[in-house]
Amino acid sequence: MALSSAFWRLNLLSKPSVSLRALKPFKPKPRPMSSLPISSKLNPSNFSASKNPTSLDPKTRTPYPQHDLIVLGIETSCDDTAAAVVKSNGEILSQVISSQADLLAQYGGVAPKMAEEAHLQVIDRVVQEALNKANLTERDLSAVAVTIGPGLSLCLRVGVRKARKIAGTFSLPIIGVHHMEAHALVARLTEQELQFPFMALLISGGHNVLILARDLGHYVQLGTTIDDAIGEAYDKIAKWLGLDLRRSGGPAIEELAREGDAKSIKFSTPMKQHKDCNFSYAGLKTQVRLAIESKNINATIPVSSATSEDRRSRADIAASFQRVAVLHLEERCERAIEWALKIEPSVKHMVVSGGVASNQYVRAQLDQVVQKNNLQLVCPPPSLCTDNGVMVAWTGIENFCMGRFDPPPPADEPEDIEFDLRPRWPLGEEYTEGRSEARSMRTARIHPSLTSLVQASLQQKL
Ligand code: KG4
Ligand code: ZN
Repeated sequence: MALSSAFWRLNLLSKPSVSLRALKPFKPKPRPMSSLPISSKLNPSNFSASKNPTSLDPKTRTPYPQHDLIVLGIETSCDDTAAAVVKSNGEILSQVISSQADLLAQYGGVAPKMAEEAHLQVIDRVVQEALNKANLTERDLSAVAVTIGPGLSLCLRVGVRKARKIAGTFSLPIIGVHHMEAHALVARLTEQELQFPFMALLISGGHNVLILARDLGHYVQLGTTIDDAIGEAYDKIAKWLGLDLRRSGGPAIEELAREGDAKSIKFSTPMKQHKDCNFSYAGLKTQVRLAIESKNINATIPVSSATSEDRRSRADIAASFQRVAVLHLEERCERAIEWALKIEPSVKHMVVSGGVASNQYVRAQLDQVVQKNNLQLVCPPPSLCTDNGVMVAWTGIENFCMGRFDPPPPADEPEDIEFDLRPRWPLGEEYTEGRSEARSMRTARIHPSLTSLVQASLQQKL
């Protein structure tokens, strides 16, 4: 039976001033190696879609050798162009990110066409620099991993085209990666103790999900946002408060909030009456906007030029917003832990990842909730919480080891071909008991969830 089944394919359809920042390599603790044979560079004939699985290692359940794989990861789903080279023992050989923060600051949000342009300008440089820093060429790679969704189609396409170009030219297998799965799984790179099942709260600019990760490719969605994600609220409020957005709104609010009194303004916590694990940040955003208006804060005056009284009042708003925004996370996590332990009593860890997880206040508050419930919090380092290529490469490695990859694309693939990108792609199926009436699911053009695809393929193999 096919190991690398069609579900994983990128499925070609026949339808018709940015700064480079190289990040310091991160050295994780060594991981125990599996007992499977070593193959640093797989023979292309080994990864054909019709290859039969070898017997599975009972401990790791990986049908493919996992030693010494070297995978290039490419991420372009939103506003960062990122690439990294990672080894299957968890060693990060290089990591490069080109951020569009200047554009964001200028336009106050991601404009897809401009973001695509910015990705196009730097993608070749970013990938080349990742290879150079790793002291490797494409010929040393075992596979290429690339984010295929969720995200902005125009942006995803830039990364996918680049990945397929490399994979086609150098005859490398290719792995299509789910962006949110990557945010969760990167924690398994940095924390070797982290085994399935575990819980994950993934908080970023576009997503706000609570999941139970039962196994690789098997996720139960315990909660999601009914409107905005928390990162979107941080970004908008930072803009209304006249903060410096060059590092995005989150860090600016976190910093200013340290000067403020978090109890000074009584914002109400969202969705108190809904006894589920879903989130909502649109109402809190409106409450904060009204507070900003009532205090006559003028966002055109940067906070750095504000009077001390004005600065104090902006800091109070930032701190009060952050307290309630995070309280909402805490309340939902409390309930989600209860639900998750009902489904999988052996859960021991809660991962918190995604850009907002780099916030120290968020981490400290969630640590309390998790500890109270006898679980352990796992947060990747901040540079691996925000979008990066390492998480994509690592997720590629995890999936590759399970035989979930595609064969190399043709070397002469036309430039203008359309790819099967997945801009709206849920990670898992919704937990039935947790369905919220408050959530008006916009189902149009939603791709079947990653979990349903993986489970369907596993059924086929039986
Ligand atoms: O995961 P990410 O890099 O990109 C998306 O997938 O969206 O997350 C970006 C989001 C932005 O909204 C940014 O403001 C937020 O993460 N963020 C933070 C912090 N650092 C980044 N939010 C709060 N505090 C931070 N320190
Ligand atoms: Zn992200």
